[in-house]
Amino acid sequence: MTTDILSLAGKTALITGASRGIGRAIADLFAGHGAEVVLCSRKQESLDEAATEIRARGGKAHAIAAHMGRQQEIHALLQQLAARSLHVDILVNNAGISPPHDHALVDTTEALWDKIMDVNLKGPFFLSAALGKQMAARGGGSIVNISTTSALMAQPEIGAYCVSKAGLNMVTRCFARELGPKGVRVNAISCGVIKTAMGDHTLNDPERLADMMKVNPLKRVGFPEEVARTALFLASDASSYSSGVILQVDGGVLS
Ligand SMILES: NC(=O)c1ccc[n+]([C@@H]2O[C@H](COP(=O)([O-])OP(=O)(O)OC[C@H]3O[C@@H](n4cnc5c(N)ncnc54)[C@H](OP(=O)(O)O)[C@@H]3O)[C@@H](O)[C@H]2O)c1
Repeated sequence: MTTDILSLAGKTALITGASRGIGRAIADLFAGHGAEVVLCSRKQESLDEAATEIRARGGKAHAIAAHMGRQQEIHALLQQLAARSLHVDILVNNAGISPPHDHALVDTTEALWDKIMDVNLKGPFFLSAALGKQMAARGGGSIVNISTTSALMAQPEIGAYCVSKAGLNMVTRCFARELGPKGVRVNAISCGVIKTAMGDHTLNDPERLADMMKVNPLKRVGFPEEVARTALFLASDASSYSSGVILQVDGGVLS
């Protein structure tokens, strides 16, 4: 008898930023591998559409709106999960925002800095703390953070974004150490340019794209489904001995 090492049957997975792009691809793939998925982002309507499509394919999906940059909405999300008796085994911190690319780092306002840190770093930190504690109490779980090559390569035009994601990488490693003894694995995916609404900013700028391709051994952009397959690996028992890893899905840019 063979068992599917990538199966998520019996697991509940919360994916933030799941209405489109990388998060949507992760939600679709996880549901297809048997997980009961909880889709989260700011707009209830787009979440409902995504959840309806998953259910139409025979999957189990819930849609709960929450702004990852607002602590009171994260608390409300946690209350909603409890009220629906949804015990999260897998958390994917995927929701993220980037500043406008034409922004000089020295001109970063406090408001922009706070907005980026709140969504990309503070939200994932506190959601991981709350759900990581619950996973630990139940004997295990998996947290996957969606990071970027920009966390390791300084790009001043999106400097606050780079700093926030570098912080997320360290959040990954700190929680991996603290929660590992309790059976909770914590890993991150370091994405290169991926074809989504956010990635389009680079894709629609031929000069910028050409520069990026010079250092990309695979000479192409990535697709959300390629990130989703790596997230499935990290969420499932296929990666049972991996924790604290920042795994590159970037076409080899950091090689
Ligand atoms: N695409 C790339 O090239 C690339 C490269 C490296 C890393 N990444 C990372 O990958 C992740 C996903 O990016 P993507 O390219 O898939 O972006 P995207 O297509 O713009 O999707 C972003 C998702 O996050 C949600 N979202 C945005 N702000 C939110 C907030 N404050 N609270 C909750 N949800 C929020 C959006 O839905 P609503 O608008 O409904 O809230 C949407 O579902 C991000 O963390 C990003 O930094 C992307």
